[in-house]
Amino acid sequence: MQHFDVTIIGAGAAGLHCAGLAGQRGLQVLLVDHAERVAEKIRISGGGRCNFTNTNVGPANFLSQNPHFCRSALSRYSAQDFIELIKHHQIPFHEKHKGQLFCDRSADDIIQMLLRECDIGGVQRWQPCHVTSVAKSDGGFELQTAKGSVSSRDLVVACGGLSIPKIGATDFGHRLAKQFGHTIVDTRPGLVPLTFDDQGWSSFKALAGLSLPAALRTGRGRDRAEFIEDLLFTHRGLSGPGILQISNYWQPGAALELDLLPNQEASSWLLSSKNSTKRKLSNELATRLPARLVDHWLTAITPMADLPMPECRDKELRQLSQRLHQWEITPNGTEGYRKAEVTLGGVDTRQIDSSSMQSRLHEGLYFIGEVLDVTGWLGGYNFQWAWSSAAACARALGGRPSRPEPPT
Ligand code: FDA
Repeated sequence: MQHFDVTIIGAGAAGLHCAGLAGQRGLQVLLVDHAERVAEKIRISGGGRCNFTNTNVGPANFLSQNPHFCRSALSRYSAQDFIELIKHHQIPFHEKHKGQLFCDRSADDIIQMLLRECDIGGVQRWQPCHVTSVAKSDGGFELQTAKGSVSSRDLVVACGGLSIPKIGATDFGHRLAKQFGHTIVDTRPGLVPLTFDDQGWSSFKALAGLSLPAALRTGRGRDRAEFIEDLLFTHRGLSGPGILQISNYWQPGAALELDLLPNQEASSWLLSSKNSTKRKLSNELATRLPARLVDHWLTAITPMADLPMPECRDKELRQLSQRLHQWEITPNGTEGYRKAEVTLGGVDTRQIDSSSMQSRLHEGLYFIGEVLDVTGWLGGYNFQWAWSSAAACARALGGRPSRPEPPT
């Protein structure tokens, strides 16, 4: 039986960051992961360049049954703290869009940085290594693993969510939480393309690959959400950043409302165009919308004769404008965990202390990162949650004596 102060299960973003920080606080840390390689999600993130944080991060960018839970960790380890670490390791980066920071070279820069931080902290890594069982013991926890038995005072569960099972995602973190009496908030794929029934979508397949900015809305009252981002038509449905964002808020069976001319006034534009141009309606629409979409729209969505503008009837132009601003469609589902970037739901944070990430049910048991019911928007927010929750946990681990006090 080998003994460590802390065992961390999951060498992804949160687990690696927590291991490095805890090791550098003088703790003996074991980091175990069943996958062949560390941090596969960092590797494939941000199109291979890892959108590692967002300079505008705040609690409003996260979904959770307990919306204030993330506040303390995010404020005590902010985007700026992670940026300092990146700068310290001389990793070049740039801002792409709306505060999103990406590596200039590759996501591997982040992985190598986290591994160097683990080396500085003397972290032991067992990988690939399956954990077969975890049990509570007098001194903390006992784990049976493919590399032997381990005892440790503290156990950190950093097993992530369920998305992309083919690179190592499992429900192990959720199962461990349940084993120790924790509740799991229902899980579903997040930041995921939306699908439509095959028959209804067949005419849209010709638009696959077409992208345009749109305002996307769903929900009612306090649950209403809106994003203005790009929308992408695919063979099976809709994707693109706007759809991934709204997918976090979309509930099965609910409609999506699309405004294809956000922040514009279509009816005043089209009515005034009647007096200022002799263009055909399709050509006028194509000055603001992709021509392929216009053709499809006038034949399949709001069928209308393609007349010169002066001959178009006001009533029809008003109807067309209204539809372009408020196109309602109802997805039949999502592309699922196979394509989802994150998992909504997870370990219920009402049973977790928000400043330390420690279980309120078992001393020494911690949950960090995506395994928790905290899900960020698209744009670097999910990694920031991984870094912030890891730092909160490492601080708490380091604050506990690393060895049992000798008897007095
Ligand atoms: P993470 O999934 O990183 O790590 C969990 C680890 O636990 C894995 O190494 C896994 O192998 C291990 N594990 C699982 N089961 C285990 C078991 N039974 N035994 C042992 N180990 C086990 N976010 C963002 O902010 N910016 C971005 O650019 C992107 N891009 C992006 C692209 C794609 C394609 C995906 C799928 C996701 C993103 N994300 C993202 C989301 C981001 O990757 C995610 O939120 C974080 O990686 C979560 O970090 P965790 O450490 O919690 O889990």
